[in-house]
Amino acid sequence: MKLLAHLLVFAPFQFPLLALANNITSRNGKIDHGLFPADLNGSNFTYPWPLRLYRFQSQGLDLEMAFMDITINDLSSPNERTDRSKAKGANSRPTKNGPQRTKTAVLLHGRNFCAATWEETARVLLTGGGYNRVIIPDQIGFCKSSKPGSRYQFSLQQLALNTHNLLAALGTSLTGLTVIGHSMGGMLGIRYSLLYPSRNSNLILVNPIGLEDYLALGVPYQSIDDTFVTEQSTTYSSIRSYEQSTYYPNGPWTSSYDKWATMLANIYSGSQSRSFTQGQARVVDMVLTQPVVYELPLLKTKTLLLIGQKDTTAIGKQWSPPEVQQVLGRYDLLGKKARDMIPGSTLVEFPDLGHAPHIQDPERFHAALVRWLKSN
Ligand SMILES: *[C@@H]1O[C@H](CO)[C@@H](O)[C@H](O)[C@H]1NC(C)=O
Ligand SMILES: *[C@@H]1O[C@H](CO)[C@@H](O)[C@H](O)[C@H]1NC(C)=O
Ligand SMILES: *[C@@H]1O[C@H](CO)[C@@H](O)[C@H](O)[C@H]1NC(C)=O
Repeated sequence: MKLLAHLLVFAPFQFPLLALANNITSRNGKIDHGLFPADLNGSNFTYPWPLRLYRFQSQGLDLEMAFMDITINDLSSPNERTDRSKAKGANSRPTKNGPQRTKTAVLLHGRNFCAATWEETARVLLTGGGYNRVIIPDQIGFCKSSKPGSRYQFSLQQLALNTHNLLAALGTSLTGLTVIGHSMGGMLGIRYSLLYPSRNSNLILVNPIGLEDYLALGVPYQSIDDTFVTEQSTTYSSIRSYEQSTYYPNGPWTSSYDKWATMLANIYSGSQSRSFTQGQARVVDMVLTQPVVYELPLLKTKTLLLIGQKDTTAIGKQWSPPEVQQVLGRYDLLGKKARDMIPGSTLVEFPDLGHAPHIQDPERFHAALVRWLKSN
């Protein structure tokens, strides 16, 4: 009787819900090849290759994820459009010698960077790294993608799902995929690999955040409202002084650091400043409240950790008491700790580099990256 009542109450809702669930996971949106304005969704930075938009629905909103999808052909003629329609929905591309397997890398940017920051890494992967397709998205809420602000529930799972659906819409095979993530993109890469495990894939983590649980180590919880206030007061000089002390601790400020600080500052002061900072406050909350560190032993993907040991990045460190600050962001220890937790992983450390080894010493960074990729 009880069971019957249960069925009567829930049965009418069950079928529409199931149908909706199927529809959400199978609906992959559309790829828009542009042209787009130079100031796209609040970022006016000029990207090295043509942008495309992945238009899809998420959380009841119409959203656009900006991305670059590049092959070796794009390197010779930067910023020229190539007809990519033939490759759409295909895992392999026909060549003179028959179908060639596409080896794809997906590059995930950090919180203070954008897809464009991966330019040099993309070039290396396509010219000497054995890859023939590199896909570089801007996550929702960042850079040239939509800024849904307070209307969006930011989670690492949601960003991983968005990325996954983009790859599916592009017809990318998920086995044999290489995911490279820096900083917050590394934390996202970990979540992505946990959600979509594949032993045949590679995960490369470049000074990822989330190798420790910040709140559990004593960072006082800060509300989204309070983070929003600090986010709103972000300027070029606050970005620069933060990055100089935390990201690039030795040596002078260089033009290659400045390029990315300026790109970011222009988004903070850009045409979608308010919804950008609303989103960033939620992104900080996401990083604090959704730790991945406990799940590192569950990773099934072959993993490489590339760690600048001078890095001291830790989310919430600025508002933590001194005794908590001391234990946070110890990348001289965190790399080894993560290596011991991730089954079969490899650790390469750069004793003299900080949070962004690919920006600080691209040559050494890419040599280590390619060496590992080739030995795999
Ligand atoms: C998905 O939604 C569309 C309309 O938006 C509908 O035509 C289609 O039947 C739905 N598919 C499933 C599997 O529910
Ligand atoms: C983002 O940019 C695209 C392309 O210009 C535009 O279609 C879309 O409406 C923009 N999104 C928002 C939220 O302004
Ligand atoms: C972007 O906007 C900033 C601030 O308005 C401006 O100084 C800069 O020149 C712009 N950059 C481009 C590439 O348009």
